[in-house]
Amino acid sequence: MDKYIDLINRALDSYLPDSDDIVSQAMRYSVENGGKRVRPALLLAFCELCSGDINKAMPLACALEMIHTYSLIHDDLPCMDNDDFRRGKPSCHIKYGYEYALLAGDALLTLAFETALKAELPADLLVKATKELAVASGWAGMVGGQVIDLQNEGKKVQVEDVVKMYNLKTGELIRAACVIGCISAGALSKIPYATVYAHNIGLSFQIVDDILDVTSDSQTLGKPVGSDEENEKCTYVSLKGLEESKRVVSVLTEEAKAVLDNFNADTTALKKFADKMENRKN
Ligand code: IPE
Ligand code: IPE
Ligand code: MG
Ligand code: MG
Ligand code: MG
Repeated sequence: MDKYIDLINRALDSYLPDSDDIVSQAMRYSVENGGKRVRPALLLAFCELCSGDINKAMPLACALEMIHTYSLIHDDLPCMDNDDFRRGKPSCHIKYGYEYALLAGDALLTLAFETALKAELPADLLVKATKELAVASGWAGMVGGQVIDLQNEGKKVQVEDVVKMYNLKTGELIRAACVIGCISAGALSKIPYATVYAHNIGLSFQIVDDILDVTSDSQTLGKPVGSDEENEKCTYVSLKGLEESKRVVSVLTEEAKAVLDNFNADTTALKKFADKMENRKN
């Protein structure tokens, strides 16, 4: 999957505005600030797995990374998680001020849809893919999860509610990645399998994020540690403990790998990727 990273970074560079105004600068600062590019890489990997053309899917992959980056800019704002450090550098609002961080997030969200529409796909597939992007990002997807996350602060909630919140705030963009990858290849019959893979990877991804918030250091992670405890978040780790959380991540990873056998293609890369996400350090 690493082979996609350079391609994604070059494509993102070409879609971001080349302008001196503060919001364009802030958009570039946050997008070009590293980041693992998990979601666009997954999108391209599913496209390739379904014999699609990754060049045609690239605008959609970049759109997804723009939406993810906007979600991180807003997530770090003082009115949300209030974190000063992101992707190894001062958060967008620390560098550019709250008002411009807010606007950079807004502008990335709109640029995402402008970019998505550049994908040279048959119109029906492009409409379907763009709709997935919209639904996964909005009130019934990532934003909806962020709402529940805020409402849960300071409360002791059931593990089922934490899982539901994770499936929205983190799972939905990962689901969009895998599903849009299939759509861009015209492989609609593979969507149910991609959805199962994504569901498992998405949930385990957020549990690992919570584990790292407890066990890592900010240098390695590129963002503050202990943020969840400071914000009185009820997480999978705070409810179930580290050992049980790691066990569940391992079960979810194995289930994700198993469903890939429904694709009649070489799934080695996506299986390795699942293992890599389980054992990631940042
Ligand atoms: C962080 O996402 C936010 C979560 C949904 C856990 P990533 O861990 O993918 O962050 P970057 O893109 O690599 O910075
Ligand atoms: C990420 O959750 C969810 C988003 C939609 C941004 P977190 O708040 O745990 O993400 P980090 O730890 O700040 O990256
Ligand atoms: Mg958050
Ligand atoms: Mg956060
Ligand atoms: Mg976190």
